[in-house]
Amino acid sequence: MRSSLLSRAPLGVLAAASIVLGVASPALAIGDAAPVEQRTAATSPPVCEITDATITWGFKESFRSYISGSIAKGAWEPFGGVGYETPAFTWTGGTGSYDPATGAGSIAFPGGIRFTGHGGLLDSTVQNVTLEIAPAAGRVLVDLAGVSMESALAGDDTVVTTPQVPFVTVDLAGLENTVSGGALTLAAADAATAITEEGFAAFGNYETGTAFDPLSFSASGVCAAATPTAEPSPVVDASPAADAAEAGDDESGSSGALPVALFAAIGGALVATIGGSTAAIVASRRKQRKARAGGGPADHADEGPAA
Ligand code: HEM
Repeated sequence: MRSSLLSRAPLGVLAAASIVLGVASPALAIGDAAPVEQRTAATSPPVCEITDATITWGFKESFRSYISGSIAKGAWEPFGGVGYETPAFTWTGGTGSYDPATGAGSIAFPGGIRFTGHGGLLDSTVQNVTLEIAPAAGRVLVDLAGVSMESALAGDDTVVTTPQVPFVTVDLAGLENTVSGGALTLAAADAATAITEEGFAAFGNYETGTAFDPLSFSASGVCAAATPTAEPSPVVDASPAADAAEAGDDESGSSGALPVALFAAIGGALVATIGGSTAAIVASRRKQRKARAGGGPADHADEGPAA
């Protein structure tokens, strides 16, 4: 619509526009090349690879007491690299990734823990821990296998295996996150944990939201250098007319600048042409009058502005 409005505009306005748009602001006349600053190549955020990580977590102190106490008369057996030193288990060799731009990451740890008790009726294994990291929050996912207490008391010893149960939430409000010279370090100390709905459904006994032991972890890794994305660089078209033909749509922001410049240029040319013709007519009229008056003084009344 902008071009039709302009086509009805007085020539003087168009001539002025040609000066303003066509000469003073050539970038606008190029149309598509105008927002150069907005096209500055974005950089992709560095995603860090976590090459080593450690978790220290007691799981649940009351559960350990129950297992090792006089009721269950049981034990636990860490395996696959997991260690135990009262009062906590230690997972090492975690690997994964972390994106400092979003604060999201995931670290997987090998190994697990097998809890036994009640003469073998209680036989629960927690393994393949994944620590999920999100801004200020996290979760521990585990593969859970065992017989629930409910089933055991009912005489059903069917082992149920549930992979990667989002077992507990982890409060990561205190997460320390440092990227320096391409090296990443993450650390959280004594982050509060609580069993999730899914954890309760799979493990039983502890209602959703019941506190488990606080969890500490640290991780280190390397971050790729930020690389420019493959965004197209601004194209300065040497042929605005060709652009105008391609653009077609007057409503679009980028094609709008071109018709404005074209109309302005045409307006400028017309004004110049009309101005030149008028001057020629005035000069020729003077000549004729001079010839008629035999070279006498010109009639100034006829020499007003050639408007
Ligand atoms: C026939 C077998 C079982 C018997 C007689 C039994 C008995 C009990 C008893 C008496 C308690 C209360 C302990 C306390 O308050 O100090 C308890 C707690 C518990 N039992 Fe069992 N249980 C059996 C099997 C199981 C199984 C198969 C599981 C599976 C994981 C299990 C998981 C638990 C848990 C998580 C608690 C809560 C421990 C805590 O205080 O944090 N039990 N059990």
